[in-house]
Amino acid sequence: MTIQTISTQPFTDQKPGTSGLRKRVTVFQQPHYLENFVQSIFDTIDAPPGATLALGGDGRYYNRKAIQIILKMAAANGFGRVLVGQGGILSTPAASCVIRKYRTFGGIILSASHNPGGPDGDFGIKYNTANGGPAPEKITDAIFANSKKISEYKITDSIDIPLDILGTFELSGMQVEVIDAVGDYAELMASLFDFAAIRLLLNSGFRMKFDAMHAVTGPYAREIFINRLGAPADSLMNAVPLEDFGRGHPDPNLTYAHELVEILYGDNAPDFGAASDGDGDRNMILGDHFFVTPSDSLAVLAANARLAPGYAQGIAGIARSMPTSAAADRVAEELGIPCFETPTGWKFFGNLMDAGKVTLCGEESFGTGSDHVREKDGLWAVLFWLNILAIKRQSVEALLMRHWARFGRNVYSRHDYEGLPTEAANGVMQYLRANFNTLPGARFGRYTVDTCDDFSYTDPVDGSVSTAQGIRIMFKDGSRIVFRLSGTGTEGATLRIYLEAYEPDTSRHHLDAQVALAEMIEIALELSELKIRTGRDKPTVIT
Ligand code: G1P
Ligand code: ZN
Repeated sequence: MTIQTISTQPFTDQKPGTSGLRKRVTVFQQPHYLENFVQSIFDTIDAPPGATLALGGDGRYYNRKAIQIILKMAAANGFGRVLVGQGGILSTPAASCVIRKYRTFGGIILSASHNPGGPDGDFGIKYNTANGGPAPEKITDAIFANSKKISEYKITDSIDIPLDILGTFELSGMQVEVIDAVGDYAELMASLFDFAAIRLLLNSGFRMKFDAMHAVTGPYAREIFINRLGAPADSLMNAVPLEDFGRGHPDPNLTYAHELVEILYGDNAPDFGAASDGDGDRNMILGDHFFVTPSDSLAVLAANARLAPGYAQGIAGIARSMPTSAAADRVAEELGIPCFETPTGWKFFGNLMDAGKVTLCGEESFGTGSDHVREKDGLWAVLFWLNILAIKRQSVEALLMRHWARFGRNVYSRHDYEGLPTEAANGVMQYLRANFNTLPGARFGRYTVDTCDDFSYTDPVDGSVSTAQGIRIMFKDGSRIVFRLSGTGTEGATLRIYLEAYEPDTSRHHLDAQVALAEMIEIALELSELKIRTGRDKPTVIT
């Protein structure tokens, strides 16, 4: 073999965001762009010679090409073995599972999650550490620092590996094991949930529809729901992964998963609907004519966790991202367990899970998961729901109504303004910050501002501090508006407005969230001067 040392120049824009480095495919296709970032990862993590790496991606356009490049760079950088999913595929939670199960040094996941794919779509790459979770900020910061001073990278001149054939191949002295991308993950799911009970449910007239959105979960869903749980074949839709996700936007929410939503809100609707995103870590849960907000989903899973064999001993604690509603806090309080509030992004949950402080975690952005891996996990959430429904034998709506009757309802919605000019979006945030002194005590209709701040977080495990994680306007009655700029977008800026109001009155629990939050929505626009500052009068996505 020949190891080639290639001279290169730094790119200035390789700063990882909320979840790795995400850019247009065309950016990654620039000469040396991917290689620079991969070398910056290797230079940062300093793996011992002969170390094992896990590698796989969501199968989007450029995945195969990138896998071959990374394999050659891993060989040139002294790795001894790489476990790569068949076809270069591993869903994000499956990659986390593989890293943990085979105790690899770490893993590289190729994904731009729910962002569109294809030659003119997005691509992404991130590094996960030995615990199976996204690298913490001190590592991603170091990767960025290395990317700014890189002058060369190492790669071998070997031939491509046949990624579709299971087996072990040699690449310039390094072993490449092409592994079944689905098997290990399916085993893990079977160990956590009552598959016998779910099988009975699915064979007793209960109908489900799972939408893989032409993305990575198709083969996982087929193995689990059809092969192992005996669901009829028409329980799946869009289950063949496509490199461009069928030109869709593989984000499981009411806007982008509209095909599924129409079925669940149509005539003769199934009892249960669910969808997952591009890389399989997000989930949306629907009932017959009913939408479960991700914040409520976390609370329901926590309240009923003992029904699933993997959680029958109870849960140690819950963590939720700051913008996620406080529905889970109420459950934690009743269970007498701690509830942690972290910044947005799954990487903040890793330390808490590693330290055994929390079992369940969730984000309002359709992410739920537990300490079975260190990523959020779409199919895991779907199976958890099915497990609960299989035991309770209630409709999704009835389950939620009873949950709210017991805990009260945290009415919740998120309004996204996508593709804003960066300056305008920053202007909104600055304007809000500039008003921090005058806002407390200000009255808006029936709401009075109590406090406001820019959320900062001190990790209770390692003491690291993350500042400027989103502006919180808290009202005296416990309602809340949060403003935050997205860290995953690739075009302009995305401003997210998170709205939450607590409703203890059961007679109002059936209300549509947009109706119940109408006044808060107006207040958010007024407080931020959003219309004048951005020229927009309505959000692009409401979830
Ligand atoms: C978004 C979500 C966040 C999630 C991340 C990765 O990040 O808001 O909860 O962890 O995607 O899936 P954002 O674009 O808001 O930075
Ligand atoms: Zn994702």
